[in-house]
Formats: sequence, structure tokens, C-alpha cells
Amino acid sequence: MENYRVGVIGVGLVGTEIIKLLRGRNFPAQEIKVLARSARDEEIAGKIYKVEPASIESFDGIDIAFFAGTEGAKGASQLYGWAAVERGTTVIDNGDDYRMDPRVPLVIPEVNPHHLRMHQGFVSNPNCSTIQMVLVLAPLHREVKIKRVVVSTYQAVSGTGRAAVGELERQARNVLDGGEPKPDVYPHRIAFNLIPQIGNLKDEMPGYYSEEVKMVRETRKILDEPDLAISATCVRVPVFNGHSESINIQFERKLTADEARQILQEAEGVEVVDDPSASRYPTPLYASGKDMVYVGRIREDPSTENCLDLFVVSDNIRKGAALNAVQIAEKMIEMELV
Ligand SMILES: NC(=O)c1ccc[n+]([C@@H]2O[C@H](COP(=O)([O-])OP(=O)(O)OC[C@H]3O[C@@H](n4cnc5c(N)ncnc54)[C@H](OP(=O)(O)O)[C@@H]3O)[C@@H](O)[C@H]2O)c1
Repeated sequence: MENYRVGVIGVGLVGTEIIKLLRGRNFPAQEIKVLARSARDEEIAGKIYKVEPASIESFDGIDIAFFAGTEGAKGASQLYGWAAVERGTTVIDNGDDYRMDPRVPLVIPEVNPHHLRMHQGFVSNPNCSTIQMVLVLAPLHREVKIKRVVVSTYQAVSGTGRAAVGELERQARNVLDGGEPKPDVYPHRIAFNLIPQIGNLKDEMPGYYSEEVKMVRETRKILDEPDLAISATCVRVPVFNGHSESINIQFERKLTADEARQILQEAEGVEVVDDPSASRYPTPLYASGKDMVYVGRIREDPSTENCLDLFVVSDNIRKGAALNAVQIAEKMIEMELV
């Protein structure tokens, strides 16, 4: 197996997890170069990494680069992503900057690996909430066409990055000590509260915040279904790690709960945890630190025709980001695309 020179850009929650996974999965890396904004040493799973400040020249000689820096004009992807591609690096990006760019495949390896064949050096990882929803929608949709999806999310603070994890911890201690902590990362206190806003308002879908718009647009792109009807409400909850989603799916014809359970039991990357009489269903604590997308509470919605309800949970840092990115690289190697 060939040995690749690998770069990881950003050593926040996602970048750190990528490095752990590269080592844990024996990714064929002869070298892992770690880049961020500032130079320092970082200990990751017992090994010290020399972190170098990122620049365009940092990518000389790097075969595969995992981008896990923040999004936007000052983020690593916009500053260095395409420049790295020009220098011969294959970029796998965790951020939102280029997900809807027609040059860029948006890939969940278990769902649409064929999109990797059209890559132009730059591949995007979908949003964490999209990945776990689409892993469940795709095998059902292959069996019976989906007509409409209504999803509500319960998203952990780790989805916002390291600063938000610290904010929930500090606020929770402070409230229990009788304090009234001021919010910093979020517009409201997150401890012992929840916030029905993830991202910013978007003109293209009036009234919806950007995380909700991402779930709609990304799902359509991944499934090659530009007109699929989807409505999302995304909510930040005071959970440290693991996103949950309540999904209502309407199909073009009837799919029973038993049939759906059977399809999902056989689906790659999905595990069914569904015995409500024994209080068995997935929770964020159950999913945290694990690799699969867990689905339970699969039931037929009696309020309308051909409709199922289900509850989906996954570790947003792993399958929602780092693991999916590493799996994209593994799939590209397997398909001889890198
Ligand atoms: N957390 C999730 O569940 C999740 C899920 C899906 C996607 N994502 C995406 O993954 C990316 C990383 O998220 P995170 O949660 O790991 O964030 P984080 O914990 O806030 O860490 C961000 C990292 O990016 C580095 N960085 C920022 N701007 C940079 C630049 N211009 N050049 C080089 N490095 C830069 C920072 O460097 P310094 O350490 O030097 O400041 C830091 O190490 C984001 O785009 C996020 O939207 C996150």
C-alpha cells in the first residue's frame, strides 16, 4: 500500500479526532503534518505533534490534506484550500465554504461514493446533521421513493467547536453555584436551556437559519434529488457531544415500520437500536465515541398516509465530521482517485 504525506489543518475538536482516527485506523500515512494558526506543540493521544502556522507553501509535497479550520474568509479552507489543490494536494474539507460548489463532490462514502469520480482535487464533507440524516434516508429512499422529510434536531455544543464545550461546562457549574453567567459563544445561556437557532438567517429561505438551509440543500445534492421536499428546525441543546434528530418521512407508497427496520438493519454505517418496550433507543451518551449512526423509535405515523417517524443519533465529531472525512480519503485510495 502506498504511503501518503498527509496534512491536517486545524487542531480543534475535529482536527484532533482526525489525527486519532488516522493512527487508529492505520491510514497509510508516512507523515502527518499539523497546521493551525499559531505554532506550538500539541499532545494528541500520547504523541507530541509540532504544529506549524499554515501558509500556501505548507502544502508543497502534501498528498492529502484534511481541512478542519474554521469557516469563512479568515478560515483555512478559503485561504489555502484551492491553492493547495493547485500544488497537487487532494483536499478534504470539513467546513461549509465549498459544499454547494458545482466543482466539489459532497460525499458520504456509504451513500454516494460515485460522486468522487468527478472530483477536481477538492472534496467536501457534508454538515454533521446532514450526514446522520442522509445515512438513514438513503437506504429507505432506494427502496421506496421519499416524498417529503420534516426533521427537528437536538444538537450538542461540541458541534460549535472547543470554545462552546468550555462555555457549557463553565455555565453549568456557575448556575449550580447560584450565578447568572453571561453568554459568550451563543446568543443565550445554553446551560439548563436550549436555543432554536444554529447559524444565521438566510435570504434564500426566509425565516430559516443557515444550519437548516444546509440540511435541505446538502441532502438534495448528495441524493441527486434537487426537488426533494425537506423542512428542518435545528436546535442547540445542553448536551456535550452527540447530535439527535427526530425525522418524519413521507414515502410515495407505504413502507411499514418492520420493512424499514429490516432495510436499516442491512444498511452500511447504520445500526438499529429499537426496542421501546425495554426503553432501548439511541441517546447521545450511547452514540458518543462510537462510529455508527444509530436509529430507533421506528414507527408508522397514523396522522397521514405512507409516513414513518424515527429517531437518529450519532457522534457529530466522529461520523459527523472526522470519521467521514477519513473514510472519504480511504474510499478515494480504494477507487484509485488519489
Ligand atoms: N464540531 C463539529 O461537530 C463539526 C462537524 C462538522 C463540521 N465541522 C467543521 O469542522 C471545522 C472545524 O471545527 P472544530 O469544531 O474542530 O473547530 P474548533 O474546535 O473551533 O477548531 C478550529 C481550528 O481551526 C484552526 N484554524 C482556524 N482558522 C485557521 C486558519 N486560517 N489557518 C489554519 N488553521 C485555522 C484553529 O487554529 P488555532 O488552534 O491555531 O486557533 C483551530 O485549531 C469547522 O469548519 C466546522 O464547521 C465541525
